[in-house]
Amino acid sequence: MKQFLSAADVEQAEVLLNLAREIKTDPRARRWIGRGKTLGLIFMNPSLRTRMSTQLAARNLGMEVIVLNVNEDGWKLEFEDGAVMNAGAAEHVREAAAVMGAYCDIIGLRAFAGLKDRSQDYAEQMLNAFRQYCGRPLISLESAVRHPLQSLADMLTIAEHAAVARPKVVMTWAPHPRALPQAVPNSFAEWARLFKHDLVITHPKGFELAPEFTEGARIEHNQDVALEGADFVYVKNWSSWSDYGAVGGGLDSWQVTADKLRNSNKAKVMHCLPVRRNVVIGDDVLDGPQSIVIEQAGNRVFAAQAVLQSILGEGR
Ligand code: CP
Repeated sequence: MKQFLSAADVEQAEVLLNLAREIKTDPRARRWIGRGKTLGLIFMNPSLRTRMSTQLAARNLGMEVIVLNVNEDGWKLEFEDGAVMNAGAAEHVREAAAVMGAYCDIIGLRAFAGLKDRSQDYAEQMLNAFRQYCGRPLISLESAVRHPLQSLADMLTIAEHAAVARPKVVMTWAPHPRALPQAVPNSFAEWARLFKHDLVITHPKGFELAPEFTEGARIEHNQDVALEGADFVYVKNWSSWSDYGAVGGGLDSWQVTADKLRNSNKAKVMHCLPVRRNVVIGDDVLDGPQSIVIEQAGNRVFAAQAVLQSILGEGR
């Protein structure tokens, strides 16, 4: 694998998933293959799970890890070509990414959507600049448009719990007080389709995702109807794609509570985390037997390790 920015970078998704499953049985089994190699993790935005799980995955392979929180510890970066840099930004990404590439063998980048300019976000300016200038294999730690490490962990979690070959997987929108990117739901839809799950997406009108991500999925605007018979319920808020970045109000009834799951097939409930309790998902679900969110977060290590191992040339 040369890079991991989306599902398109994976030649055989099933093989990658099986590698993650194998790694989970003994995460330190190949602890020498990254020796002498350094992973640089570059964060333009906060992170708990991605930061910790990817570091752990690298260490399980014997790699060194350097973490840089650009907005706190680095120079403010300029991304525009031809910019006259006489304002806030002290360093251009052309130099910064190239220098990071000189220090590291693999680079991971987290760069969220700004949620102001859709064209700019969906052009993946920051991710593409790093890809162009770092000269190293690049891993997305969540970009403006996708979060593939999360999705691979999600597919692993579903594979471990699925009782049928083609489970009904419902991705439901849920309320949130702030504008959140579409990266996680975009990516989840992309990967669920890749693994041929029976994907249903439910959301209030006005919260449609970009068509390129939902093609082939069933869209149902009635959440109760969508949840009937669900084997998995993937809960996530996202801001509007059409009215770009809009949050929407008066939609509290979309919160996923135990009552909402009554007609599901004892659905397992997933969320990428962090989750706002009793806004997005009720305590009765998160603290109940149907929630697998902690296990899902645990699987982030094995997903990241499968990707690192594949980039190091030790995949299958
Ligand atoms: N799900 C996820 O990516 O979590 P963090 O934002 O904490 O890394």
